[in-house]
Amino acid sequence: MKRVDDFRLRLGKHELVPIMIGGMGVDISTSDLALEAARLGGVGHISDAMINTVSDRRYDTKHVKEKLALYKYNVKNEDKSEVKFDLGRVAEATRLHVESTMNRKQGSGLVLINCMEKLTMNAPKETLKVRMSAALDAGIDGITLAAGLHLGSFGLIEDHPRFRDAKLGIIVSSVRALQLFLKKSARTNRMPDYVVVEGPLAGGHLGFGMDWAQYDLATIVAEVLQYLKDEKLDIPVIPAGGIFTGSDAAGFLENGAAAVQVATRFTVARECGLPEDVQQEYFKATEDDIEVNQISPTGYPMRMIKGSPGIGDGIRPNCEAYGYLLDANGKCAYIASYNREVAAHPEARKVSVMDKTCLCTHMRNFDIWTCGQLTYRLKDTTHRRSDGSYQILSAEHIFKDYQFSTDNKLALPEPEAA
Ligand SMILES: Cc1cc2nc3c(=O)[nH]c(=O)nc-3n(C[C@H](O)[C@H](O)[C@H](O)COP(=O)(O)O)c2cc1C
Repeated sequence: MKRVDDFRLRLGKHELVPIMIGGMGVDISTSDLALEAARLGGVGHISDAMINTVSDRRYDTKHVKEKLALYKYNVKNEDKSEVKFDLGRVAEATRLHVESTMNRKQGSGLVLINCMEKLTMNAPKETLKVRMSAALDAGIDGITLAAGLHLGSFGLIEDHPRFRDAKLGIIVSSVRALQLFLKKSARTNRMPDYVVVEGPLAGGHLGFGMDWAQYDLATIVAEVLQYLKDEKLDIPVIPAGGIFTGSDAAGFLENGAAAVQVATRFTVARECGLPEDVQQEYFKATEDDIEVNQISPTGYPMRMIKGSPGIGDGIRPNCEAYGYLLDANGKCAYIASYNREVAAHPEARKVSVMDKTCLCTHMRNFDIWTCGQLTYRLKDTTHRRSDGSYQILSAEHIFKDYQFSTDNKLALPEPEAA
């Protein structure tokens, strides 16, 4: 049987190890993680989710504090339509993050940025346009358009000087979504450079309903490959979701995929943005600890560990500071749920909100532990320490395990010194 290293991903003039580490917001797929993938000849992603917050944490800006100061008067108001992002600040934060990442890039691989279009930021088109343009200005190798794919996104940057040279990819979960996107963006005369096909076992938000378990990645990938063949379109197809071993990956490559996108195994890498105590929760999780629920205010089902501290937590909405999920009318589903609970329990000092979560706040604080379905297998990828905790891995080890392993084997890391 072949191994991943027997294949290469061709993207324009680049010839790459066909392993792409998927974008994981908020700053879970850090620059360090993405840069390791590029150094090893593959493809890494940073994420622009909550970019102003990430900029404050990493580059010492004060965007969040200053936005909150500006809109403090509105904190108790249910109507958030006035709470707008300053587009100049969004651009600056994006530029800082992309530039500081690209300045450190080594090796022959690529670093892309994951843009989730469901981050509607109270002005969906304007903010998305600024996010994409600023990333291109700052030298990102390419953009992967994710969650909530907006059919007109290519059109938003068609005047950008790098529109035809930067790599542009999309994430879809069905052949139908791909067809719609291609139809809508045909006008720009520009095809995506790659298509990530994300199946139902992925982490983060899912492109399926609560009937996700009825779908199967291999079937959807086969449909997409057939459609592209019928249409005589030569676009690399990159499956994602539940590809846990090098052999899983090689199987897809043998069946016509150009690369694989993986994420869950890297959540327990040293370079990943999750704090180590949260990484230990990922290691510990059993299959029963993982659920797909509907508490994300985006309206998309999301997979997470049931013990995530953010589930049920009834904090006051933080839209004046964050507000990444406010729609074009200044609404977020969490605000309505929170206000309903406050009205039902007027005496309570703190309410519990079970049906939705304040995703901005909890993702920022690493209190919603979103994960892939196969997170429960992470414990098989490392050693257990004498205190019961698990040894953290290096991104290089995980990457090379995907690249070189055969026979469904998982290579364990060198045991750390006691
Ligand atoms: C912790 C975590 C966070 C994620 N966040 C995002 C995200 O912000 N945007 C996105 O497009 N996909 C996100 N994903 C999906 C991954 O990029 C990837 O496509 C998928 O998880 C691959 O499947 P695997 O995790 O089984 O390897 C996330 C996945 C995980 C595990």
